[in-house]
Amino acid sequence: MSDDLDALKHATLASLAEATDLRAWDAIRVAVLGKSGSLTALLKELGKTAPEERKARGAALNVLKTELQAAIDARQAELEAAALEARLAAERIDVTLPPQPRAQGLIHPISRTMEEMAAIFGAMGFEIAEGPDIEDDWRNFGALNIPAHHSAREDMDTFYVPAPEGEARRRVLRTHTSPVQVRSMLTRTPPFRVIVPGRTYRADHDATHSPMFHQCEGLVIGRDITLGHLKGCLIDFLRAFFGVTDLPVRFRSSYFPFTEPSMEVDIGWSRKTGEIGGGTDWLEILGSGMVQPKVLANCGIDPREFQGFAFGMGIERVTMLKHGIPDLRPFYESDLRWLRHYGFNPLSPAMLHEGV
Ligand code: PHE
Repeated sequence: MSDDLDALKHATLASLAEATDLRAWDAIRVAVLGKSGSLTALLKELGKTAPEERKARGAALNVLKTELQAAIDARQAELEAAALEARLAAERIDVTLPPQPRAQGLIHPISRTMEEMAAIFGAMGFEIAEGPDIEDDWRNFGALNIPAHHSAREDMDTFYVPAPEGEARRRVLRTHTSPVQVRSMLTRTPPFRVIVPGRTYRADHDATHSPMFHQCEGLVIGRDITLGHLKGCLIDFLRAFFGVTDLPVRFRSSYFPFTEPSMEVDIGWSRKTGEIGGGTDWLEILGSGMVQPKVLANCGIDPREFQGFAFGMGIERVTMLKHGIPDLRPFYESDLRWLRHYGFNPLSPAMLHEGV
């Protein structure tokens, strides 16, 4: 190889070795093999070479071109690999670092109780049903065998809502979750079991009453449903919910227009210590009964073929008893100190106690 080619070869190889990044590498590539590169210029000059030298010179130039091209490609591969390594090193994250501390939200005791009820009744095969807060008179009262001038309407301190445009009858803010019994019977095919956790409203406000509160309704409709099923279901529920396996439960005869017979359900507790299941006192927890045949018929179910039981309870009340919360009012005040004290960790599942 002639001296000038040899010099070009060594100079190129040396500068390739010195190039530490792809930008420097590309400048070398262009300076040698580019349109106005040094080797390209030599190839162009070949035509001016004396004919007797041309062949040898041409062959030497081609050998050099192949060599330099290979060296340039090899350096490119090296520099690309190095660039990738550098990037991987720079973007490395330490997955063992502890996470940033974040403010942790808590579950409101009412939501927690609803979740627990859904878990316990869910394990007994109940589904969750829902209905609107604004109801018509017929579903809240009429279909439930509470006629127009029945005293139950006054007992419930109903909030009335003006009739919507084009309708004659005013609406109500539902005074209980029982209208969802009506909705469930009208839309489901028996047999079925539902619970209805939801908001309810009565014009009543003091330390133990809020104009908006929550209830959980239950309804079971089937062919051979008896009072025995009602009692077994509610005893199991109350023992699971309060976490007291031998919780005393008492059924006391009562009256509701939509159940016959009707029973109020009491649990044993100690008035002195507040201990659920302890002591000799009784505490009323829920209303229940066998669905009154007229209600079944009002809702399109033949009472000669199907019967069922229903129950309803106040969510705030059982929540206060279970967790020893003394006052009803802070439930709705969004006071963070109260929520931090009585709230529940969202990651701890609603516990299922023995007995379900
Ligand atoms: N709806 C009744 C109330 O609000 C409770 C209840 C529901 C009673 C279902 C019997 C059956 O007091």
